[in-house]
Amino acid sequence: MTRQPLSFDAYDEAISPRPETTEFDRVVDSALSRRGFLGVMTFGLGAFLSGTSALGRAAQAATDRFGFTQIAASTADTITLPEGFEWKPVVLWGDPLFADAPAFDPETRGTAATQARAFGDNNDGMSIFYRDGRHVMAVNNEYTNVATLWRAPEAATDDDVEKGMMAHGVSVFEVRETGTGWEIVKDSPLNRRITPRTEMELTGPAAGHDLLKTEADPTGTRTLGTWNNCGNGETPWGTYLTCEENFNGYFSAADEAHEVPAELKRYGVSAKDWGYGWARVDPRFDVAQNPNEPNRAGYVVEIDPFDPEAMPKKRTALGRFKHENAACTIAANGRVVVYLGDDERGEFLYRFVSDGVFSATGDNGDLLDAGTLYVAKFSDEMTGEWVPLTPEATGMTAPEIAIHTRQAGSAVGATTMDRPEWVAVNPARVEAFVALTNNKNRGVKPNAGGDETPVNGPNPREKNDYGQILRIVPDAEDHSADSFTWSLFALAGNPEVHQDAYAGSDNVNAGNMFNSPDGMSFDSTGLLWIQTDGNYSNEGDFAGHGNNQMLAGDTATGEIRRFLVGPRECEVTGMCFSPDKRTMFVGIQHPGEDGGSTFPNGGVPRSGVFAVTRTDGGLIG
Ligand code: FEO
Ligand code: CA
Ligand code: CA
Repeated sequence: MTRQPLSFDAYDEAISPRPETTEFDRVVDSALSRRGFLGVMTFGLGAFLSGTSALGRAAQAATDRFGFTQIAASTADTITLPEGFEWKPVVLWGDPLFADAPAFDPETRGTAATQARAFGDNNDGMSIFYRDGRHVMAVNNEYTNVATLWRAPEAATDDDVEKGMMAHGVSVFEVRETGTGWEIVKDSPLNRRITPRTEMELTGPAAGHDLLKTEADPTGTRTLGTWNNCGNGETPWGTYLTCEENFNGYFSAADEAHEVPAELKRYGVSAKDWGYGWARVDPRFDVAQNPNEPNRAGYVVEIDPFDPEAMPKKRTALGRFKHENAACTIAANGRVVVYLGDDERGEFLYRFVSDGVFSATGDNGDLLDAGTLYVAKFSDEMTGEWVPLTPEATGMTAPEIAIHTRQAGSAVGATTMDRPEWVAVNPARVEAFVALTNNKNRGVKPNAGGDETPVNGPNPREKNDYGQILRIVPDAEDHSADSFTWSLFALAGNPEVHQDAYAGSDNVNAGNMFNSPDGMSFDSTGLLWIQTDGNYSNEGDFAGHGNNQMLAGDTATGEIRRFLVGPRECEVTGMCFSPDKRTMFVGIQHPGEDGGSTFPNGGVPRSGVFAVTRTDGGLIG
């Protein structure tokens, strides 16, 4: 199988090359001078790993909240689980969601028309909802491996391009549990595909602004579709939040020399797309013809899973950036708080606090349209503040803040982060955990907005290939408080290869090591589940890490155990639990992205959602 033309990271790297300035050397010098400090912080100063004071062999022997025995790293082309657990597929890329749609054809891999009626590709964040005896799943389909989809690196026909487009978006479908596992209810009226062509409403402060107006939509309030849907969130009122991440890679211009404005460059939009060719079938994606179209993507979209007629809403109050997930909670004062990461090297961590308060019996429909967006500023002294992105603080109007959110964060001096991926809110304590997946540019070059990225407290290692997990504890046990303390729950690394900070924190050892934490969710018992999207070469700095994996962390003791290993060349991402807590649904994305897997059926590698259960039918999560 042919390799993908270029990854999103490599693509963004290519269009944003390292600046040739002496500034670069100065940043590196500053990073190097902190090496001594880093050593103390990570390994001598236990306080930096809060909650891990009882860590180590003694704690491991004394506590077992996990309910499973850790498994070894693996390079097997399958899902590996501890003894006493099993897995079964629920839905795979290309499986029809409707009774009258054809089964997946491994030969042709479908057409645009069949893909539009089938489960999309490369599933990521997901939720399961339950009401009136019905289980409904909403699953993000982030992107597609065109080489697998087309069986060639380039589209042969317009239908190929359209098929790729239809593999994106969100799949919503009813599921039921039978004697042999979970299956799709193909004739359910709740089933629907949401694609890059589904009509949506733009709501919140940016709705109707000139920057959102296009020839097709002079109102700036109606747009078509969602794509590159990465992580997710659920609201307390039972809706699904899908997060638009690398929206930029789908835009191009017929004239490759076309210069896009600086506002779009900050988001990685350029005249050259990532290889999907959408502008070939839809001029919306030609940025020279439609310069405002990219301003209509990069949002959090709210979807009602129980009303297939309801128009999805792009909530511009939550800002525009490469959204990872949307971790929702209710603050002590009833306001809705949403933690949001912007997954790009050196970009920021955000928090939205609603103006209105949640009502268990009232209408919460517009709570995400009015509120304040904040950006995180960390001190090296383990404290931090949420800086409000207001017109006074940024010098920008409210709609501009909602559209050019990265620029607003830069204007107030937000802390550059090592690629904020998922945020998970602990249901048992007032705290949030943030996966900072990796950042090879830490201490090396500025972010796309020119903000310098020297090593700093929560991002303590230059050229950080391993990633870390950050804990944030809001002051006064209030998620809406404007200040917090922070600590590092784990520094991923390789203690078999390194003896310095790159060995990782004390709770990372030869038995549980991993790199690039990404997906994170708490279960109802307060265990933190960690999924990885990292380097699976199993060589050099990553020797012994095996395939991408899923681990569980005890946030009280700091202990981390490996629970699941995915098939070859996959990312493990997206998870949720059945309401009865007897099934854990886990997403396997892009197995065999470089041609080295036949998971799960021995043929074409296919992404999918898998049900993990205990063989004795007991509780899991
Ligand atoms: Fe889609 Fe940041 O992962
Ligand atoms: Ca991710
Ligand atoms: Ca990722």
